[in-house]
Amino acid sequence: MQKRVFTVLLCLLLIACQDPLLKLGYSEEDIALISELSEENQQYFIDEYNEKYLNLIKDPSFNEAKMDTYLQYLDVFEGEDLFVLVDHFTSAQLDELAKYYEDDYFILDKAEDYLRYPQSSVRETVEYVNTLRYQKAYVDVEKADLDKDIYILVNKYHYLEEDYVPQDLVDIESAYGINGKLRKAAYEAYKQMQDDAKAEGYNFYITSPYRPYTSQKRLYDNYSLTYGQASADTFSARPGYSEHQSGLAVDILSAGYDFDNFDLSKEALWLQENAHNYGFILRYPQDKQDITGYTYEPWHYRYVGDIATDIVNSGLTYDEYYAYYLVDYQGE
Ligand code: DAL
Ligand code: ZN
Repeated sequence: MQKRVFTVLLCLLLIACQDPLLKLGYSEEDIALISELSEENQQYFIDEYNEKYLNLIKDPSFNEAKMDTYLQYLDVFEGEDLFVLVDHFTSAQLDELAKYYEDDYFILDKAEDYLRYPQSSVRETVEYVNTLRYQKAYVDVEKADLDKDIYILVNKYHYLEEDYVPQDLVDIESAYGINGKLRKAAYEAYKQMQDDAKAEGYNFYITSPYRPYTSQKRLYDNYSLTYGQASADTFSARPGYSEHQSGLAVDILSAGYDFDNFDLSKEALWLQENAHNYGFILRYPQDKQDITGYTYEPWHYRYVGDIATDIVNSGLTYDEYYAYYLVDYQGE
């Protein structure tokens, strides 16, 4: 009898306790979760219905020991980022990371590196880290990811092996420029671009298309001998590090102009305004040498297909765009 009275009393007590939460709009399930929290933390739910806090404790990554820190940064870091960052960093580091987090191109996996390699501004740090510039060019390198196909990144940190030859090279017809080859998709797009430009009175042609490793080596070694290696590295890729080996890059000139003054031609301007409509981007823009590793090359265009316009609109170099949007890309 005594036991029954006790059970009834306990039930009444529970109902009395749960009632306010039910009234606030929490479901039975929510209440069960809340009741697992310490008394102190339960307080956060008692005054009003708090969906944000509720989502926090519902998350499988929730760790009650960090409750105060989660709450402190709840409006700073979004979704799962909050759990990952709070789990890995101290409050002082989180305060610092909050600044980087506001940058449009913050990458979660690189949080530690943003703290490790601060540059003169948040923007510069994110840019510097995303494009791996804390690594030693030509030394701390990885193989370019061939699975990316036409989105492949080849730069001073991503190389092509000596024996890499694209599978779908086609011959360039004489109307389109020098004797040589390009990957089929790049060539088809290029032809369309040149034809359309010609119809509008702009004439240009290909002066350098696909370059095998050995040709790039010859070229680079010559420049290196003539100008010294440090200088050569600012305008010529070392063998294995040239986009020309990918079969997706073209150097374009127009009659009467050479590399030094092509920028002054109406064709160069036309290309800057229109090439993206054909899948090409200016790969080494002005004032981006810090990022791309090369001085301005108004003649060097890289085929990337239908993302070209998006890249141009982003205002990013391909190195940055790739780091943010493509590094995890695994095909459609
Ligand atoms: N001039 C460019 C960077 C190359 O050599 O591929
Ligand atoms: Zn080039």
